[in-house]
Amino acid sequence: MLRSKPSVASMFSLALRSEMFPLIVIFTVTCLGLPASEAGVVRGDGPTVVTPNGPIEGLYLDEANVFFGIPYAVPPVGDRRWRDPVPAKSWKPDVYKAVKPPPGCYQHCGTPPHTCPATVSEDCLYLTVFTPRSATTGSNFPVMLFLHGGNFVEGSGYSDLTDGRYYANKTDTISVLINYRLGAFGFLVTGNGSEDATGNYGILDQRLALEWVQTNIASFGGDPNRVTLFGQSAGSQSVAVHVTSKRSQNLFHRAIIESFPFSVPFKKYFEAVILGNDFAEALNCSHGDLKCMRTKSPADVKGAQDKVGGVIINPLRLFEMFEQWGPYIDGRDITKQSVDAFMSGDFQKMPIIIGSTSDEARINVIGAFPKPMDVLQVYEYLLALFPTHFFQVMAEYPPDPPGSDQREPMIVAANHVVFVCPERAALRGIAKYGDGNVWMYLFDHILSFDAWGPHWQFCVNHSCHGAELAFLFHSAPLGGFKYTADEDVLSRSMVYYWSNMAHTGNPNDDTWRRNNPRSDSVGEFVEWPKYGNSTGWSYMHLMTPRDRADKNYLQEKCDFWDSLDVYPR
Ligand SMILES: *[C@@H]1O[C@H](CO)[C@@H](O)[C@H](O)[C@H]1NC(C)=O
Ligand SMILES: *[C@@H]1O[C@H](CO)[C@@H](O)[C@H](O)[C@H]1NC(C)=O
Ligand SMILES: *[C@@H]1O[C@H](CO)[C@@H](O)[C@H](O)[C@H]1NC(C)=O
Repeated sequence: MLRSKPSVASMFSLALRSEMFPLIVIFTVTCLGLPASEAGVVRGDGPTVVTPNGPIEGLYLDEANVFFGIPYAVPPVGDRRWRDPVPAKSWKPDVYKAVKPPPGCYQHCGTPPHTCPATVSEDCLYLTVFTPRSATTGSNFPVMLFLHGGNFVEGSGYSDLTDGRYYANKTDTISVLINYRLGAFGFLVTGNGSEDATGNYGILDQRLALEWVQTNIASFGGDPNRVTLFGQSAGSQSVAVHVTSKRSQNLFHRAIIESFPFSVPFKKYFEAVILGNDFAEALNCSHGDLKCMRTKSPADVKGAQDKVGGVIINPLRLFEMFEQWGPYIDGRDITKQSVDAFMSGDFQKMPIIIGSTSDEARINVIGAFPKPMDVLQVYEYLLALFPTHFFQVMAEYPPDPPGSDQREPMIVAANHVVFVCPERAALRGIAKYGDGNVWMYLFDHILSFDAWGPHWQFCVNHSCHGAELAFLFHSAPLGGFKYTADEDVLSRSMVYYWSNMAHTGNPNDDTWRRNNPRSDSVGEFVEWPKYGNSTGWSYMHLMTPRDRADKNYLQEKCDFWDSLDVYPR
């Protein structure tokens, strides 16, 4: 009854099945095209820290120290494939050489050139740490752990884009950039017995990395009691999972959720098992036969993952197509859809920032529908996506004049229903049930340089999904791109707010900077009001030439979507 087999499928899901296949590449543009660089490497003996597992030697860069590719788990290969991760074993008395970027988790990375991991491997549970040159054991610098995006099938912790040296140098924080298992390796579900693959391994990897921070980061000069978990796209979905999971309690203390596609639901158990059974068939194994599935090569696993990538599991929840592999509601780590959890007060109380870019859904719509569309085509999809609200949605988002490319109104509607409006619902839940420390942003700037690469040219002149990443780490210069003077201010303001959050739990509190003679940006940026009724639902409009506090983003549109009750539960 659930798969789009001809006998049961509606005509719309049949129509969608082939054409929606490219949707699996959406949410992958989480990194922009910054070329790799070896700049700034100082040769010679590296910095050495002594951790519980043994000594680690990294590299001195001009601006920071880096420790590349520290193992935080036993390699999840062979019999450990599809098992909960376990902490890495000690290498004492050897010194672990953490001097080159680790492989990414197994994937075919389609993100722009120079942003994908240089190599991939199933043995990939490594993390990279950037520390200030001045860090010593006892420095007690706040820690920022980043979870990368890539639709849970692509991406890696370290890339030039997410390089942590600027934060280390300017903000006295320590960056931790982690890999977690992706695709079928990270999210296969075959059942709920003790010998089954029970999925959410990627999420468990992330939690193990957070635990690694608790036991190890003091050796690097970090403060395990001030850990900020931040992430973009699939990474922000992961952040939300940890914020709403009791099992991740006390492992981090502030959260930043960037560009969460809230209306793309996590799978339910039975849906995840259907996908797992299809996957087993594609591997020529019986349903749930992990013994058989563990004998297959990583390339076979990836091949089977691709083969089931276009199948619509549940025609009643078409938004699921946007994320075939990823977390599912396992009743243990994840008990609710994130927007539902925030709306009903089911989350850990801590300072939280949530935001999005101004044109999030462009890559979904153009990625899924590469050719211009006419009104009839659009109606067909709207009807499939909103069978019970079709006429209301049509009236709220009327087509552009005849002859126009009707993908444009779709891009606007998708931005509202997938990102902005459920985000508002989540923010309002946090404002109502949280500890009062919640902030919203809108990133609204068009890059002056073309970092999108050849496959994402449609994002040139748009503030697409992922656009803020080119500013978040102040990393464009590393890739050979140059910020305009205004863009430099924008990037520094983001670094300012994000690092203040890491230091104090408040993006405005720069007391630590005032007490630090090296620090810049003191008093340079405007106050970011909290999100809430009392501030008129204020948010920070991150833009050039200067950021601005605004109110009530897209109020009428979000009132409309709220009234339809379409967010996932
Ligand atoms: C910041 O970078 C400069 C070189 O650009 C270096 O001299 C300085 O030691 C660095 N400071 C820290 C705290 O890493
Ligand atoms: C396992 O799944 C079955 C449905 O397939 C369900 O009846 C049972 O309660 C589940 N057991 C646990 C421990 O979740
Ligand atoms: C599964 O079997 C088919 C047909 O025998 C074969 O072409 C394919 O390579 C096999 N795939 C795997 C992953 O073993």
